[in-house]
Amino acid sequence: EKKPEKIFLNSIGSSELGYITVAEYQENIPFNIKRVYWTYYTPNKVTRGHHAHKALEQCIFAVNGKIEFELINVNGEKSTFILDSPEVGLYIPPMHWRTIKFSHNAVLLCLASDVYKKSDYIRDYDYFLKK
Ligand code: TYD
Repeated sequence: EKKPEKIFLNSIGSSELGYITVAEYQENIPFNIKRVYWTYYTPNKVTRGHHAHKALEQCIFAVNGKIEFELINVNGEKSTFILDSPEVGLYIPPMHWRTIKFSHNAVLLCLASDVYKKSDYIRDYDYFLKK
């Protein structure tokens, strides 16, 4: 069973020049990237997520700001992760219920293993736990 884990990437550069960080298939991303999306301007008081994915794998970055994740696996076990550095990501395996909170300046970048499929979402928490 795959577990959620932080991904630590290199940042190339210096404070004089600025930085570049690279996420690359097989180097540090464990799946073929088929979709990229980003979210921004999420108000502080809003909690998003509230779903799990049946098969989708994701690597998520806070390229700006701070993002807090609470993940729950199918056994009901909880883990929390804070992303607040553009060089640190979070790998989320399939079948993890997530709730996500954002600082207002947060920009969430998601690398996803598949195209958008509505049928891949589980939005009912009780149904999720019974899986
Ligand atoms: P959703 O994944 O539910 O985000 P959150 O859990 O943070 O609220 O997506 C929000 C809306 O955006 C939903 O109506 C589906 C739509 N959407 C797409 O059309 N394509 C995509 O690739 C994604 C990620 C979302």
